[in-house]
Amino acid sequence: MNSEHNASSSSLTVSGFRQAAPYIHAFRGKTFVIAIDAALPEDVSHFTALIHDLALLHSLGVRLVLVHDHPLPHARALPLAVTDGRTLDLLRSAAGQMRSHIEALLSMGLPNTPMAGAVVRVVSGNFVIARPLGILDGLDYQHSGQIRRIEHQAIRRCQEQETMVLLPPLGYSPSGECFALAAQEVAAATARALQAEKLIYLLPHSLHRGRKAIRELNLDQARTFIRRRRRLPPHVSAALQHALETCSRGVRRCHLVDCRADGALLLELFTRDGCGTMISADSYEDLRPAAVDDIGGIIELIAPLEARGFLVSRPREVLERDLKHFIVVERDGMIIACAALIPFPGEGMGEIGCLAVHPQYHDQGYGRKILEYLERKAAAAGLHRLFVLTTQALHWFREQGFRKAELAELPIRRQDLYNYQRRSRTLIKDLGEG
Ligand SMILES: CC(C)(COP(=O)(O)OP(=O)(O)OC[C@H]1O[C@@H](n2cnc3c(N)ncnc32)[C@H](O)[C@@H]1OP(=O)(O)O)[C@@H](O)C(=O)NCCC(=O)NCCS
Repeated sequence: MNSEHNASSSSLTVSGFRQAAPYIHAFRGKTFVIAIDAALPEDVSHFTALIHDLALLHSLGVRLVLVHDHPLPHARALPLAVTDGRTLDLLRSAAGQMRSHIEALLSMGLPNTPMAGAVVRVVSGNFVIARPLGILDGLDYQHSGQIRRIEHQAIRRCQEQETMVLLPPLGYSPSGECFALAAQEVAAATARALQAEKLIYLLPHSLHRGRKAIRELNLDQARTFIRRRRRLPPHVSAALQHALETCSRGVRRCHLVDCRADGALLLELFTRDGCGTMISADSYEDLRPAAVDDIGGIIELIAPLEARGFLVSRPREVLERDLKHFIVVERDGMIIACAALIPFPGEGMGEIGCLAVHPQYHDQGYGRKILEYLERKAAAAGLHRLFVLTTQALHWFREQGFRKAELAELPIRRQDLYNYQRRSRTLIKDLGEG
C-alpha cells in the first residue's frame, strides 16, 4: 500500500516536471515584474513559501523585479490620497521593514528547507524617479507622487549580475525628496519600461464570473469585465486596469494570481491550465466564430487550395452545415484565414479541419495562433486529443507538437469517412502535453 502510494506520488512528480519543462526553457532569461499585495505577508507561512517560490523562479533563470507594498490603509487609497509628512514617515519605515523581511526570507539556506543551497542576491535602490502629484482641484497632495521614469538600464545591469531587484512603492526626485507611490503603478510602469515578458499581480483575491474562475481575458473582455464589475475590490480592479494598459503597451502577458492558496504562482506559470487570470495582448482579437455572411469569403479562400488538392472539397451546403465549428480571421473586410474544430465528444477528440491562411499572410504566425486558439477551445470543451488529416502540412503540424498516428486511433465514425485516394497523413496531439 505504502509503496503503491510512493509510486503514484513519484509518477505525479515526474509528470509535473515534464509538464513544466517547456515553460522552464521558455522563461529562462525573461523578465517578470511581480507586485506583491500588502495583505499577503499577513499569512506568515504562506508568505514564506511564496518568497521561496520566487527564489525558485530566480534559480531557474527568470529575471525578477519584485514590487512590495506597505501594509498601511493609506497605501490602498493611493495614488489619489494626500500623504502628509507623518504618513510619509510611516510609509518609509513600513517599506524598510518589508524590504528587510523579504531579504531575510531570501537569505535562508538551512538544510531541509526549499532554500537549501540557494544563493539569491537582491538589491533595492533609487530606481524609480518621481515628481509630486501637486495640487489638484485646490487640494495639495503633499508627499504623494507620480512616476516620472524608471531607471530601466540600471535595473538591467543588476539583472545581468543575476541579482533580483526589489522595489518599494516610493520614488525619489532629483531635488532629493521622497514620494509615496501606488505599488501597482510602480509594477506596471517598471514592466513597461523593461518590456518585461510578464507583469504579475499577486493578490488575496481571484476573478470569477458567477462561480466560475476566469482563466483568461483578452483586452476587450478585460475592458468589459471592468465596466460590468463595479463591485470588485478597488485594488483588484486597479490591478486589472494596469494589466490591461500594460498589455496594450507591449507587455504580452499579465497575470492576476490569488496567492491565498499555497503554490498558486507556480501553478499559474508552469501548468497549461494555470490557476489565476491571464490577460493577454496576443489575444485572439481578430479571430472570431464564423457567421453566415462569411461563407462567401471562406469559399474564396479555400477554393484555390481545394483545386490543388491541399484541402478536401467542401460544397457550400457542407460549409453551411458545419459553420458553427468554423472560426475566421478577418482583415479589412476580407477573410484571410479559417479553420474548423469538429468535436467527437464521445471519444474526447476533436478534428482540426480546413485550416487555411491566405498566401499573402503566410509566415506571420496566423496558423500557429489559430491552432493555439483551437487547442484552448478544445480543452475548454473537455476534449483531450486533437487530430488532423493532411496531405501538405505534415511537417507544419509536427512542429506544432502533433505526432504521426494510425487511422485506427481516430474515432470509428471518422475512420469510415477516410478517403483512401487522398492518402492523407493522420496526426494526433494530446492536449496537456505542452
Ligand atoms: C499550413 C498553413 C496553415 C500555415 O499557416 P501560416 O500562418 O503560414 O503558418 P505560421 O506563420 O504559423 O508558421 C510559419 C512557419 O511554418 C512553416 N511552414 C508553413 N507551411 C508549412 C508546411 N506546409 N510544411 C512545413 N512547414 C511549413 C514556414 O516556413 C514557417 O517557418 P518558420 O517559422 O521557420 O519561418 C498555411 O501554409 C496554409 O494555409 N497552407 C495551405 C493549406 C493547408 O495545407 N492546410 C492544412 C490542412 S489540414
